Amino acid sequence: MPVLPEKLFLEAVDQLVNIDRDWIPGGDGSLYIRPFMFANETFLGVKPSSDYLFIVIASSVGAYFKSATDAVSVWVSQEYTRAAPGGTGAAKCGGNYAASLLAQAEATRHGCDQVVFLDAAERRWVEELGGMNIFFVFNDGSMLTPPLGTILPGITRSSLMTLTKDKGIALREERYSFDQWRADAGSGRLREAFACGTAAVVTPIGTVRAPDGEFKIGNGGSGTRTDELKKALVDIQRGHAADRHNWIHRVF
Ligand SMILES: Cc1ncc(COP(=O)(O)O)c(C=O)c1O
Repeated sequence: MPVLPEKLFLEAVDQLVNIDRDWIPGGDGSLYIRPFMFANETFLGVKPSSDYLFIVIASSVGAYFKSATDAVSVWVSQEYTRAAPGGTGAAKCGGNYAASLLAQAEATRHGCDQVVFLDAAERRWVEELGGMNIFFVFNDGSMLTPPLGTILPGITRSSLMTLTKDKGIALREERYSFDQWRADAGSGRLREAFACGTAAVVTPIGTVRAPDGEFKIGNGGSGTRTDELKKALVDIQRGHAADRHNWIHRVF
């Protein structure tokens, strides 16, 4: 696919936001902007398309999960994987979501809000959720998030990494196994876990369920670090805190 020039991208988003600005909800709501691109060459066969459409759509949205404050439950998929090394896991490509839907349906069947994927090679290492990245908080105050490679390099993940650095919090980008996750939750070494993404913002994970049982993280609710990071990010987004890293783009 061609790389869209940044200027054209911003201009398209600015124009749509300007047209739709009356749809921006008050309070905690947002205007969710979804730019995307797809191939539309008239051709039968397997090859990269020579024509593409770039489209921006938007919708006013509320909280991604039913309760914006409660912790969510996650289902750890043992059977299905989302992305393999050398594949398209790091790209926001539609096929990744197609590959995640059966696992998400399984999560829903088991009463969970979201699915967590393990790595495709060993089915051992925690990667990410169907539509969110994941962070862990330990009892020594340090944090961990899975490394890039087969996961989506989310902008929320990246922003939270910057904010943790600003706050002097030790954060490792390191592999973390599901077995270790369970052991650490049991021993109390793990204090909090949360999911993050543009739509989910920062959402605490309270219950982890798998075919061989479930465990809770902390008291099963949100934690102080999760709340602190969510507030730090949302305050910048809403203009209530200084934008030290120039993340805000104003649309006039
Ligand atoms: C698979 C996946 N991982 C992570 C994320 C979080 O990315 P971002 O913070 O850029 O929204 C998303 C969001 O759409 C996603 O679909």
